[in-house]
Amino acid sequence: CGIVGYVGGESVGRDALDVVLAGLKRLEYRGYDSAGVALVADGELSVARKAGKLGNLVALLAEEPLPASQTAMGHTRWATHGGPTDRNAHPHRDCTGKVAVIHNGIIENFAQLRDELESAGCELSSDTDTETVAHLLSQEFEGAGRNLAEAMRRVCQRLEGAFTLVAVHADLPDVVVGARRNSPLVVGLGEGENFLASDVAAFIAYTREALELGQDQVVELRREGVTVTNFDGTPAAVRQFHVDWDAAAAEKGGYDYFMLKEIAEQPKAIADTLLGRVGLDGQLVLDEMRLSDEELREVDKVVIVSCGTSFHAGLIAKYAIEHWTRIPCEVELASEFRYRDPILSRSTLVIAISQSGETADTLMAVRHAREQRSRVLAICNTNGSTIPRESDAVVYTHAGPEIAVASTKAFLAQIVACYVVGLYLAQVRGTKFGDEIATVMDQINEMPAAVEKVLETIEPVRALARTLKDKKSVLFLGRHVGYPVALEGALKLKELAYMHAEGFAAGELKHGPIALIEEGVPVVVTVPSPSARHRLHDKIVSSIQEVRARGAHTIVIAEEGDEAVVPYANTLIRIPQVPTLLQPLVSTVPLQVFACEMATVKGYDVDQPRNLAKSVTVE
Ligand code: G6P
Repeated sequence: CGIVGYVGGESVGRDALDVVLAGLKRLEYRGYDSAGVALVADGELSVARKAGKLGNLVALLAEEPLPASQTAMGHTRWATHGGPTDRNAHPHRDCTGKVAVIHNGIIENFAQLRDELESAGCELSSDTDTETVAHLLSQEFEGAGRNLAEAMRRVCQRLEGAFTLVAVHADLPDVVVGARRNSPLVVGLGEGENFLASDVAAFIAYTREALELGQDQVVELRREGVTVTNFDGTPAAVRQFHVDWDAAAAEKGGYDYFMLKEIAEQPKAIADTLLGRVGLDGQLVLDEMRLSDEELREVDKVVIVSCGTSFHAGLIAKYAIEHWTRIPCEVELASEFRYRDPILSRSTLVIAISQSGETADTLMAVRHAREQRSRVLAICNTNGSTIPRESDAVVYTHAGPEIAVASTKAFLAQIVACYVVGLYLAQVRGTKFGDEIATVMDQINEMPAAVEKVLETIEPVRALARTLKDKKSVLFLGRHVGYPVALEGALKLKELAYMHAEGFAAGELKHGPIALIEEGVPVVVTVPSPSARHRLHDKIVSSIQEVRARGAHTIVIAEEGDEAVVPYANTLIRIPQVPTLLQPLVSTVPLQVFACEMATVKGYDVDQPRNLAKSVTVE
């Protein structure tokens, strides 16, 4: 879910509702099942909420306007407890109608709290876990000396689970209170106004100064200042940071969709992620890396944990890391890893990959690893987010804000960051010579131009998607690093175009998937370079022949100059010649564009696919 809170003043002259709605617009990628706002004006609390996307709420507010105000909060929901209806939309109020609460996360002991409230005579009016907090806050308010922050601290001590909560009270015209455990919440520091949000994107148009809240902290926001305490009331240590991108980075900039813009930004995302990684002496440097070379020399196993697209980046990284470092590398879905009993030790390096830095499963995997004394390195795109903060070290991808729900530029940046980490490990452990590392870095440095070239010649991919729009299913095949690319191509198509799509390792074709091939089934195959080791190229050409012989419509993504594939390709998509390990950086791009165009021609919302959320902060 996306959360925004705002307290302003006459000196600033903004209407709180405008600020909150603009913030919600930027956070809508976090959930769009319903939206709602609450504001305090003239000793009254006003609430408006509506199922569906933010536009529905905006239309409601146009019909039934709320009073002008300087204190407000808003929410855009990704439903967990209770269906996406008006009644379950946030904010939720207590019985007196004086307290309103918005929430991201899950309150695990809510059934018990609800029973308790109901036996005390409280009537709950929604199916959500959130509503219990409104009633509890109301109960605590008087006893806490009519101090909403104190009431929030008391309530939070009774809650189990992961949550960000924000509350306002009708009697407090200048206060918004927030609380955070395991779900994101950042503070934006203005002059005569202050902000609260799940993500800096919500307030970046007003201020670039931010405070990172820690675990189990409560923040009291007033127009003149911000007070942060721990749940027990003691003053909390917080870190202030400057957001180094501006509002324009979080806008569409002339593109119809954020995703189109983000696909086009991929050369820059790669280049920015590479920036400053090589020192004057030609050695790799990882500035933010808080692990010493000594510690990295002790590593005897790497375990990569992540979810979704970030998982696919991890699968690709394994090929490179093992090849360069000779350290065994496992890759596991964070949601599986966290409930397993993995064999970990002090010498295991766990790499957690996450665009948002907030994915609940990945965060829990990080904790699971640290409990067993493993060192954890985060690869993350969001400065100040929870996963890097809880890790021993971090390497940031510099893809800039990614707004479209399905990930594109962050994926390529993650691959690059993993490769830099792999090469760095090789450097400190001496498994590669300096000149070998320099050669690979030179090759990676050519990738922005290679991706640019793919983007310049992408139009036929769009045309192809339009011709295949009525197909029921699309299969993707690849080998070696092309296998995770196939998985990612299929995931993109599922996410965006709601089509059945499967990615397979081409070598597995004969062990089952080939049974799916019938006349006209589109099969997308990424072909390794003819110069790849182990004759992988020839093997995959055989796979193309096999599916084509059974009627498949073959869409072949192959290097320029690869003539061997020509006779077997119904559609041929050319990519530049690049070293095998780097091929995912170019071969993924047509698959992203294919899925994006397929969704567009089917009339779906590319940036906000149904049922999904960008940052899944619940389990
Ligand atoms: C969600 C998003 C995916 C993303 C995954 C992991 O499912 O819809 O696009 O790949 O989370 O997110 P993370 O922020 O941890 O990379």
